[in-house]
Amino acid sequence: MSSQIMPYHERTALPSYFFPFLSPNSDKATEDDVEYFHQKLNEKCTSPRQALLYVHIPFCDSFCHFCTFYRIHTPSIDAMESYVKVLKKEMQAYAKMPYIQSLKIESVYFGGGSPSVLSPRLIDELLSWTRDCFNLKPNVEFTYEGEVRTLKDMERLKVIRKNGCTRVSFGVQSFDRKVRKLAGLVPPFEEILECVKNIRDVGYAVNIDLMYGLPGQTMATWKDDLSQAVKLSATNIDIYDTIHYATTKLVQHRHKLKGEFPIEDDRIEMLRYALQYLSQIGYCQETIEDFALPGKEYQMKKLVYGGGDGRSETIGIGASSIGFLNNVAYRNFHPFQDYINWLTTTRKLPIALSYKASAEDISTRIMVYLPKLLKIEKKNITRDAIDKYRTTLDRLKENGLIEEDDSVIKLTELGIIWADNLVAEFLTARQKQKMWKLMY
Ligand SMILES: C[S@@+](CC[C@H](N)C(=O)[O-])C[C@H]1O[C@@H](n2cnc3c(N)ncnc32)[C@H](O)[C@@H]1O
Ligand code: SF4
Repeated sequence: MSSQIMPYHERTALPSYFFPFLSPNSDKATEDDVEYFHQKLNEKCTSPRQALLYVHIPFCDSFCHFCTFYRIHTPSIDAMESYVKVLKKEMQAYAKMPYIQSLKIESVYFGGGSPSVLSPRLIDELLSWTRDCFNLKPNVEFTYEGEVRTLKDMERLKVIRKNGCTRVSFGVQSFDRKVRKLAGLVPPFEEILECVKNIRDVGYAVNIDLMYGLPGQTMATWKDDLSQAVKLSATNIDIYDTIHYATTKLVQHRHKLKGEFPIEDDRIEMLRYALQYLSQIGYCQETIEDFALPGKEYQMKKLVYGGGDGRSETIGIGASSIGFLNNVAYRNFHPFQDYINWLTTTRKLPIALSYKASAEDISTRIMVYLPKLLKIEKKNITRDAIDKYRTTLDRLKENGLIEEDDSVIKLTELGIIWADNLVAEFLTARQKQKMWKLMY
């Protein structure tokens, strides 16, 4: 491989979705922090910001070997009922805050875990409550995530649709039998097909997640994964490079899987191939990991990534949920029972971690999310924010990783391949340390 396409020694997939990062050690929310958060939400927003409403449902029927999202094995109906009850309480607490009332909620996302494991009755109750509580626009972008076994159920699909949800998203990761086995992916191929058929029959846009860098994956299986997702008429395809979290089976059983992981050069080729193939057949790359057919673009990821001016916000609801509101980054309590106990016994919001973002953090937020958003329009950011990173930007330009003109800064194809390394370029040593800790 020529040095021209190896601008860094190593290419590592990083957990850089949420900035500012939160540390379980240094960002524990004190009583004063919780009070401060309440005060910030009692302020009215003078220039209303765009926002995502994210609700976390932490239940999964089986655990995939690479995943660290907070989840527990699908509990009893009673436990799910208790969870929905406290979710409603948390939503109500947010919805009456002046700051929240002045936000423009552009996207609603039920994610997890696997929200589809809730019973049809609980889904109905929760979705209609959410709509009423936040007074959502009838045509608001609305996505419901799930896993194959429960998402293929017509009754659930109809209830979700009835409540105004137009997009359904689920992870396939790979269609290959061996890869699925090594990654702990349970549903068989036939069930995935049935699931997609039912989703389409009820009339949703379908988002399929794929991952590369999994054990057992080869260029041939990856090409097949992409073409299968296209054949299933996925309107949106998300592509994730596998992040190696130290606490997962994938990493802990690494010795047993020796020789099964694609090497770095192969992972680069997998991404290159995906970029070329998906663009050839008409998918547009919307962010670093999501691809959409024309007319099927969605806002959720862009809102998580600051919306281009570093200002869009997330109302995170549910156990372990992460949010960013009025310049406070926060994470809710988990495990499940701690979250339930907190909301059952107090009237305060269930934040376990919080961090007050400075003006400097906001300009870093814009730049950290440049590689995620692929580009930023200069009109959306201050001159100071660009000047602060001028030396870094000039070096990235010299190395062929970004391009810049009077109106825009954007990633080149090489920059897209090395996007996570670019994220790290804009972080201070302390911020990098906090991000690395998320993997260990
Ligand atoms: C947290 S899951 C929730 C969706 C649903 N439970 C499912 O699996 O279909 C969302 C997506 O995150 C991605 N993901 C999970 N763990 C990952 C990891 N270690 N590295 C990269 N992507 C990961 C997978 O593509 C997965 O579909
Ligand atoms: S990837 Fe999805 S189904 Fe698998 S463990 Fe994570 S949340 Fe559950």
